[in-house]
This record gives sequence, C-alpha cells and structure tokens, in this order.
Amino acid sequence: MGTVDTIVAMAYLVAAIAFIAGLHLMNSPATARKGSPISTAGMVVAVAATLAKMANDGNTSTTAWIVLAAGLVVGGGAGLWMAHSVKMTAIPQLVSLFNAVGGGAAAVIAIADFVRLAGVSGTAITPRTAVATALDVIIGGVTFSGSLIAAGKLQGWITGQPVVFRGARVLTGALAAVGVGGSAYLFTGSENIGILMMVVGASLVFGITMVLPIGGADMPVVISLLNAFTGIAVAMAGFVINSAGLIIGGALVGASGTILTILMAEAMNRSIPNIIIGGFGTGDSAVAVGAGATGDIRRLSADDAAIQMSYASKVIIVPGYGLAAAQAQRECRELADVLESRGVDVSYAIHPVAGRMPGHMNVLLAEVNVPYTQLKEMDAVNPEFDSADVALVVGANDVTNPAARRPNTPLSGMPILDVDHAKNIIVIKRSMGHGYAGIDNELYTNPKTGMFFADAKKGLAEITAAAKALVG
Ligand code: TAP
Repeated sequence: MGTVDTIVAMAYLVAAIAFIAGLHLMNSPATARKGSPISTAGMVVAVAATLAKMANDGNTSTTAWIVLAAGLVVGGGAGLWMAHSVKMTAIPQLVSLFNAVGGGAAAVIAIADFVRLAGVSGTAITPRTAVATALDVIIGGVTFSGSLIAAGKLQGWITGQPVVFRGARVLTGALAAVGVGGSAYLFTGSENIGILMMVVGASLVFGITMVLPIGGADMPVVISLLNAFTGIAVAMAGFVINSAGLIIGGALVGASGTILTILMAEAMNRSIPNIIIGGFGTGDSAVAVGAGATGDIRRLSADDAAIQMSYASKVIIVPGYGLAAAQAQRECRELADVLESRGVDVSYAIHPVAGRMPGHMNVLLAEVNVPYTQLKEMDAVNPEFDSADVALVVGANDVTNPAARRPNTPLSGMPILDVDHAKNIIVIKRSMGHGYAGIDNELYTNPKTGMFFADAKKGLAEITAAAKALVG
C-alpha cells in the first residue's frame, strides 16, 4: 500500500467516525442540529479522499474529470437549491426523491461496471462481483421506481389511496421470479447484458407495484424502508467497485434506516413483510368512508375555546400535519405560554407519524423552543388524557381517529392518541376535510368535541388574544 493509499484509507476512517458521531447526536432533539454539520464534514472528507485516490491512480482521462466536475456542480447545486427552497411540509417528497437518486445511482454503478467487464475479453466476472451486482441492481432498481411513486403520492400527483388492481399478486410473483431467476443465472459468471437488463426491468416494475397499493398508515413505514434500501444498494455498489467509502456510508444508511423502519412499523402496528410482498395495508377503504359522518357537530368560537382552556387545570395539545401546513408553531407556543401563566398544566402529545415525516412535530416545536420536557410520546401521554380537562387538536386528524380501533378501515391497527378520553375536546382545522388516509373522523361528532373551523395560525392567534383578554 502506497502512502496516498494509506492516507485515503485513514480519511475514510475519519469520515466513518464523523458519520457515526453525527448519527449518534441525532438521537436527541437537543443535539440533532450539531449532528448534521459533523456528518457533512465526514462526507466532504470522503469525497476529497476519493478524488485524491483517482488523481494518484493516474488512469483518469481529462473527459472523466470534466464529467466529474460537471456532476459535482450540477448535482451539488441542485441539492443545495432544493434543500434551501423546499417547504417544511414537502420534506418527505424531497427525501423520497433523494432516495430515488441514491438507489438509481447505485444501480447505474453496477450496470456500468458489468457492461465494462463484459466488454473486456478474458476478464471473468467473479461470483462476489456477480452477487453484489445482482443485489445492487435489484435493490437500487426497486428503490428508484418505488421512491418516485412514493414522492408522487406524497406530492398528490398520484392518489394517496391504495391503488390495487386485478392480478397484482400474480404480477408481483412473476417479477420476483424474473429477478431471482435472472440473478441466479448471473451468479454462474454469465456476462449476458440482456439478462442483467431483464433483472433491472423487473426490479423497476416491482418498485412500482410495491408502492402503488400502499396508502394510509403504511406510507411512513414504506418511505423509511426505501431509505434503508438506498443504503444497502449503495453498500453493494461499494462491493462492486471495491470502494470502502461507499461500503461504509451505505452500510450506515442501511443500518440506521432499518432501525427506523422497525421502530416505525412497531409504533404503527404494521408488518414489514406484509408491506413488501403484498399484504399491502390492512384496510378496505370502502368500508370506512362515511363512518361517523352522520352525527351533528358542535361549533366553537375563539372565545369559547379560550374560556374552556383558561379555566382548565390540564390541557394536552395534539399537533398534526395542519400545524406544519399553517406554520403555526409560534402561535401554538404563545397560547401555551398564556395558559401556563394562568397556572394551567400544558403538554404536547406527539404521535410517531403525525405530520409527514418522522419527528416532524418535534422539529416544529423545537424551532420555537418548546421545552423538551413538555413533549410526550404516545405511550407516555395516552394514560394522561383521562385526567385532561381539554385536549386541543391542532391540524391533526388520522392520528386521533377512533376508526383505527375498528377492523377494516385504512387506519385499522394503527395506535392513536386517546384524545377522546379527555373531558373536553377542541379541534382546530379549516373544514370537515379528511386527513392523509382519506376517511371521516368520528371524533368530530363526539358530543365532547367542539369544532373551531379556522386556519391553525389564525385560529390559535384568535384564541390567544381571547385568553389574554379574560379577566381573572
Ligand atoms: P392528517 O391526518 O394528514 O390531517 C391533517 C389535517 O390538517 C387535515 O384533516 C386538514 O383538515 C388539517 N389542515 C391542513 N391544513 C391546515 C391549516 N392550514 N390549518 C388547520 N388545519 C389544517 O395529519 P396527522 O393527523 O398529522 O396524520 C398524519 C398522516 O400522514 C397519517 O395518516 C400518516 O400515516 C401520514 N403520513 C405520515 C408520514 C410521517 S413519517 N409522519 C409520512 C407519510 C404519511 P382541513 O383541510 O379541514 O383543514
């Protein structure tokens, strides 16, 4: 090993330590912000080491350097621009797009290397390379197309409801057979590019048929799963081209993504194998739509809501996607401050999939410095609703929907926040519109519930003003 190779190996080690330290800091909202620059620094070191190695190896043409520089400028520039301009509520779509790009790039690396080796006579494709190539194109292909469908669903370009069609299971089985059969053929050392392309094609279609039937409560789990897939595909690409940097980075994303997927699936009461191979959710939306929509609703004014909460002992705020959409976190904190100044015990109930990305509510509330001690996870806060005078639901819908407790709804089996156990319920939203799962919420027709129809930002500000105006 030459001096440069040793320095490069050490640089990859430094990068790996930075990635692990960064991930570790993201364990807690209090330290998460520090984790991001440390991981970024690790990535800069890894890229610099790779470039140094290429320069030292001396077999890179001027054209290759120009292509690399163009890729860095265009890809890096697009990434920077997207990350700066994206709205907080559109982060999940962006993450899905990044997953698609990562998985697709990993698959392209393996395809390019296979085509190169197949074109060089006398260069046998070793079993190790064949296995890594097959796994890379399968996982990368599924991730690419599946993540694009997921992004389309989240953006609303494709219906968020499960899309099921006759013969889906047969098609899924056939695609799996092509992928497994084609890979087995490649393991024999075959250099047949046609077979490789068949495996790629089957993986791309499998990604589409895997994600299309997913909706409602399964979507967060599948996005996290695709994130784990991206990491595994990148690690496989590392084995194909012998890149320690790709193996380390990919393995870390794969491992952390897998842990997140398992945690999310457990929190959502979902089975990962079911989601992948075609149980595809647990619900039949036709059964549930309309349930609970028949009862009367009780409307509240800002003054009514302010009075109820100001004279309460305990208020639990339940934030959801609507809080993020309205960017109402500051107004939420202001109302909590006013209530606390009147001696009310205020806390926040955080559902694991409230909003549109893991930790969405934590991020929003941390932005306005809500003390972490006031943020309570679902299992901790659920027993507390029984003693709450008011549960204030701000733009949350599915995560409070009692339909989840019944079978045969798109939310069935998903644990919810037991908002209906509170003595009084106040819901702030703009209309009787549905949440992500697209079904009615019978919480709204519960006799204990008062509906305050308003944009969350405006509505919270009005309630706060009314609470401030109260005397005594
Ligand atoms: P949702 O069920 O999506 O409901 C959000 C509610 O917010 C809507 O009913 C909407 O009603 C209201 N809203 C929208 N804009 C508003 C505004 N400006 N002011 C006030 N209200 C507004 O939200 P949730 O309860 O947080 O549940 C999350 C859902 O997303 C779950 O089904 C989950 O499975 C899914 N999901 C989550 C993730 C992750 S990882 N968190 C990822 C993908 C999908 P109006 O239109 O009547 O105002």
